[in-house]
Amino acid sequence: MKKALSLLTVSAMAVSMLAGCGSSNTAATTAAATTAAATEAAATEAAKTETAAATEAAAAATEAATEAAAEAGSADLADKKVGVCIYQFSDNFMTLFRNELQSYLESLGFKAENISIVDGANDQATQTNQIQNFITSGVDVLIINPVNSSSAATITDMVTEANIPLVYINREPDAQEEERWATENMNVTYVGCDARQSGTMQGEIVLDLENKGDINGDGKVSYIMIEGDPENVDAQYRTEFSVKALTDAGVEVECLDDQVGNWDQAQAQSLVANSLAQHGKDIEVVFCNNDAMALGALQAIEAAGETVGTDVYLLGVDALQEACDNVKSGKQTGTVFNDHISQSHSAADAAVKYLTGEGNEHYIGCDYVKVTTANVDDILASLG
Ligand code: BGC
Repeated sequence: MKKALSLLTVSAMAVSMLAGCGSSNTAATTAAATTAAATEAAATEAAKTETAAATEAAAAATEAATEAAAEAGSADLADKKVGVCIYQFSDNFMTLFRNELQSYLESLGFKAENISIVDGANDQATQTNQIQNFITSGVDVLIINPVNSSSAATITDMVTEANIPLVYINREPDAQEEERWATENMNVTYVGCDARQSGTMQGEIVLDLENKGDINGDGKVSYIMIEGDPENVDAQYRTEFSVKALTDAGVEVECLDDQVGNWDQAQAQSLVANSLAQHGKDIEVVFCNNDAMALGALQAIEAAGETVGTDVYLLGVDALQEACDNVKSGKQTGTVFNDHISQSHSAADAAVKYLTGEGNEHYIGCDYVKVTTANVDDILASLG
């Protein structure tokens, strides 16, 4: 009797865990309730007869109902249409993000032909048209990486007036817009990391160096800053907080140059080449708001005959594979892992929770991770 009950308890627990871990939609929940009922009925039966056969029957019932629950869940999602707007396909980081998003959505049970991902080509008018087309075509949920986060209020109104839930990714709308989602009880959320953390981590990597970034020993850290597209708050925060980490630690800094490279490798290469031509070895640290620009910076540094680690330090953000390889070989001082895997999964999970009626908080965050030679192998392994 005791054995039978404890076996049943374990089965019931396994069922409830499955329902919680997987796509938690209404059909799955209903099926899980059926499962619980089946489990209960079987428990009564087992209690009555106290035979091993009854226990086995209960386990079989549990298993069958669990499978039914899983099938009901994925069948529901297979019929759902997801529209995904990416601000620009040629962006290295957003390419990793969208590929992971596509495959994770499929693994949740969405059919490939029901997932439509479009390229905004860095043009808000183009993206606004794409959103309008998605609305007209009757998508069930939208995931949007806005070209201009300042257009978020307009986008939100268009989408919510059509009663479509909305998950913003990567480019965070401002606080006023996010507050409106809460006060007006809108099915809108943002999934992303807090870019202040990534900036701070870049500064901390410099602080952890033996000379704290002061290569020439003149008592101050002379740096140049290569910024991403100012439309993304990530660029503003990384610029501010990387330097703030140094000054908060009492390190004197001097800004030799601060330029906008728009997240782009080629633009960064030419900006850093110009800076090196002007300031040469006075530059001790090159802060880049992302790794694509750090790769461009490295090309310029090497073309100028300088060596990272001895003549200059180089920092990026994202943990692109190539940048991690450079960290490993010493050609880049460090980077910060911008977890596209966790962010894309959270965005897809949030979309599912809107579809099942469970709903979401209006902000879903994730953590950055510092990357140096100390842990780069682990990060490379996790990138697969
Ligand atoms: C990434 C950049 C990317 C940008 C796009 C940032 O979070 O770090 O690499 O270009 O998002 O908006």
